[in-house]
Amino acid sequence: MDVYEGKAKKVIPLDEEKVILEFKDDATAFNGEKKAQFRGKGWLNAQISAHLFKILEEKGVKTHFIGIAGDNKLIAERLRMYPLEVVVRNVVAGSLKKRLLLAEGTELPEPIVELYYKDDFLGDPMINQYHAKILGIGEDELREMERTALKVNEILREYFREKGIILVDFKLEFGKNARGEIVLGDEISPDTCRFWDAETMESLDKDVFRFDKGDLISAYERLYERLTGEAPARR
Ligand code: TMP
Repeated sequence: MDVYEGKAKKVIPLDEEKVILEFKDDATAFNGEKKAQFRGKGWLNAQISAHLFKILEEKGVKTHFIGIAGDNKLIAERLRMYPLEVVVRNVVAGSLKKRLLLAEGTELPEPIVELYYKDDFLGDPMINQYHAKILGIGEDELREMERTALKVNEILREYFREKGIILVDFKLEFGKNARGEIVLGDEISPDTCRFWDAETMESLDKDVFRFDKGDLISAYERLYERLTGEAPARR
């Protein structure tokens, strides 16, 4: 396996079973249309992802997380990734506003799970289980990913609630390990989730960059501090 470079991370093979995930300072939005760099974003996303993966592992969710390998790097299990983005939503925001013409901030009566085909050329279109089957993803595999995504939502929603943060929505990616198990991969960070301060409704996530709502690093740092109880390291 060669080094794979995505928009926000590099995946560097370590051996047959492990990879290094290197989190970059680059930020993109709207399928790469908007681009910028934020010094320290890679560190913050690596640390926040590690923190959340540990919480999920403690609650019995299988993730690819093995350890922290340096400032902006994690060691992870090598997976064969599904070309899918699994999105879970608790509150109306982002693309759901337009899809159902609902007001931002409306709490959903129950979580919504959505599937997107991860393909930059196509612009990550929304798909359903029939399309997934054509892409070679079996019904059982899909059901397991959806079940895990809802479990992740239950765990993290409660965890964030206790910290005074609303978990609005988030995106997960899954892969298969060498033993054929379906494992949660990629990252869980403010790049891939929407977090709102429960009191001020301020965004503590990439919407700050997408919609020019302020300083991205200071929002990510505030999130880091709320989660870990520690001031973020200076870089
Ligand atoms: P959306 O409202 O734009 O569809 O986004 C839903 C969630 O998925 C939100 O938490 C941001 C995350 N997301 C990604 O991580 N990557 C993407 O490419 C997109 C479009 C959304």
